Amino acid sequence: MAVKDIRLFGDPVLRTPADEVVDFDKELRQLVTDLTDTMREAPGAGLAAPQIGVGLRVFTYWVDDVLGHLINPNLDLSADLQDGEEGCLSFPGIYVDTPRAMRVVAKGFNQYGEPVVLEGSELLARCIQHETDHLDGILFIDRLSREQRKQAMKAIREAEWAGGPTPVVKLSPHSTFGKGL
Ligand code: NI
Repeated sequence: MAVKDIRLFGDPVLRTPADEVVDFDKELRQLVTDLTDTMREAPGAGLAAPQIGVGLRVFTYWVDDVLGHLINPNLDLSADLQDGEEGCLSFPGIYVDTPRAMRVVAKGFNQYGEPVVLEGSELLARCIQHETDHLDGILFIDRLSREQRKQAMKAIREAEWAGGPTPVVKLSPHSTFGKGL
């Protein structure tokens, strides 16, 4: 097990676009293992490498008991949308209805450098979009309407983890299993 600290909102690494993976080596496979272990421990439905302080385009997911990862993702989004509650492991305890595409086709690579296609709808589609946003330095609060974002920012400022000395993380257990991303 290699459970890493999860970086919280306010940490600049979450706003830094991640680099494409070029070397599909042992270190990359260790990163996939660390992400997977950290996500399962949280527990969360997804986790992106910048959330553990690594600026590479890698995320893991754990949705409907399916565990996987994707590297250098490229997304095709459906035109139809879904709305529903979304959270993020970098924003403990904050959940907001967030609009997303209903279906996604994600092309990328596995940890061995083999091309893979990941297709998802509903929660998996939401997760893929959320995690790919992380790789671009985009956070789910950026996807909210102005009014919703104002409310979310208020809740964030009032959260016990906000404004602390930095990324020493005490994650409170999630009341809604699997919704943290
Ligand atoms: Ni997240």
